[in-house]
Amino acid sequence: MLNERALIMRLQRSGPKHVAELAGLCDATVPEIVHCLHRLCEEGVLVANAARGYGLARDLEWLDTDAILTRSATHARASIDQLDVAWSVDSTNTQLRHTAVASDKVRVLLAERQTGGRGRLGRSWQSPLAANLYLSILREFPGGWSCLSGLSLAVGLAMAQALESLGVASIALKWPNDVQIGGRKLGGILIEGAGERSGNVRAVIGLGLNVAMPRQAAGHIDQPWTDLAQVAPQLLSRNALAAALLDCLLPTLERFAQQGLTPFLSQYAQRDVLRGQAVAASFGDGTQCLGIAQGVADDGALRIRNAQGEHAIYAGEVSVRRA
Ligand code: BTN
Repeated sequence: MLNERALIMRLQRSGPKHVAELAGLCDATVPEIVHCLHRLCEEGVLVANAARGYGLARDLEWLDTDAILTRSATHARASIDQLDVAWSVDSTNTQLRHTAVASDKVRVLLAERQTGGRGRLGRSWQSPLAANLYLSILREFPGGWSCLSGLSLAVGLAMAQALESLGVASIALKWPNDVQIGGRKLGGILIEGAGERSGNVRAVIGLGLNVAMPRQAAGHIDQPWTDLAQVAPQLLSRNALAAALLDCLLPTLERFAQQGLTPFLSQYAQRDVLRGQAVAASFGDGTQCLGIAQGVADDGALRIRNAQGEHAIYAGEVSVRRA
């Protein structure tokens, strides 16, 4: 069977090639090669040139376990039980939900591509090959599922701190899981339960961060978005980004496990894009709650005040209402 990865590596090493030449080099049939090349062009990895053949559309840096671990701080490395980089999976969150981890450690999975990347509220998450970061962490937390209320807010803060440590300024957070710059979504967080063990809840914390979104995939995004290629002062290595994320996230998860959301609330308030804004929270049953966002409660709920009083919002889609 044609090895997609080997084909790309070959083009990376030796420059553009025509279909027939690639079929010979990869020991594959012409239809197999054509199918693979078309997919990679659609993902923005390859470009076709009539004279030169198929070649890389851009420089590619591959995710690499050793490169991530050697750049990570000692404290982060010490808490990682296992870190893997997959080539192509349905969803890193889904994969980790079915694995095990030592109770005092985390398991980390990154992927070059997700074929079924998932966002909040049943949305899909565009996850083209070798373009962005798709990273999930499996960890146990003491107590039940309700103890994880507000965890996405603490995780968003850790993402913001990691990005700022690499020179990306003005990161804001939109309740409950958006990482934004200038009102555009740069990243998102999806936290899912993975069962309970001895009274502890197992959670998969999935992060998506747009690094250099190819225009082909960007066409499928249905909300204002951005990527680091547009907002960062320089091109950032995905391995360096993954290491910085883990350095900030793993202590944050430990602190959240010990103390809950309380120690993060004042820092969250400084980045909260909804606070003081006229907002609409929309729910799955078609109802809405309109009012002024008052910030976040101790348990992670969004507080909305209107003529009927103050409401604690735990779910739904929140948007800012323009005057
Ligand atoms: C959102 O903003 O709606 C959440 C997006 C979360 C995307 C990440 S990418 C890694 C992990 N795997 C998934 O399928 N989703 C999360």
